[in-house]
Amino acid sequence: MKKTESGEIIRFGVSMDEVLLSKFDELITSRGYTNRSEAIRDLVRAELVKESWAKGKTSQVALLGLVYRHEHGDLMHRLMHLQHEHAQLIISNLHVHLDSDNCLEVLILKGPTETIEHLAEQLLSTKGVKFGQLMRATTGKEI
Ligand code: NI
Repeated sequence: MKKTESGEIIRFGVSMDEVLLSKFDELITSRGYTNRSEAIRDLVRAELVKESWAKGKTSQVALLGLVYRHEHGDLMHRLMHLQHEHAQLIISNLHVHLDSDNCLEVLILKGPTETIEHLAEQLLSTKGVKFGQLMRATTGKEI
């Protein structure tokens, strides 16, 4: 048996309704998977990551994307103030000037689940932020 970082590869059978299976095959093919095993592994990993966020782990990684108008009142000042207050949580950031008015900012956050979510909520609810989303990722260690 082939061994991975996390353990031995185990083969197992899955019983599934043929209609459901054909929908699954269509879905994974459209997403670029060439076999069911890799698609199932990714689905399991995604659920494990989701579960680890629900459990409130102490070391998580997330990406926060924000789109805003840089000249909207004191928005820039408020966003910068929040980021400086949580400097230890922000391990990297990227700022792109999309056009003459709009900016896209991506923050890479690392730290406890609750702290990341709290900062994300504060940034996302800042008046003038047009769009934003927190992508709850993983350090990758346990999956
Ligand atoms: Ni900008």
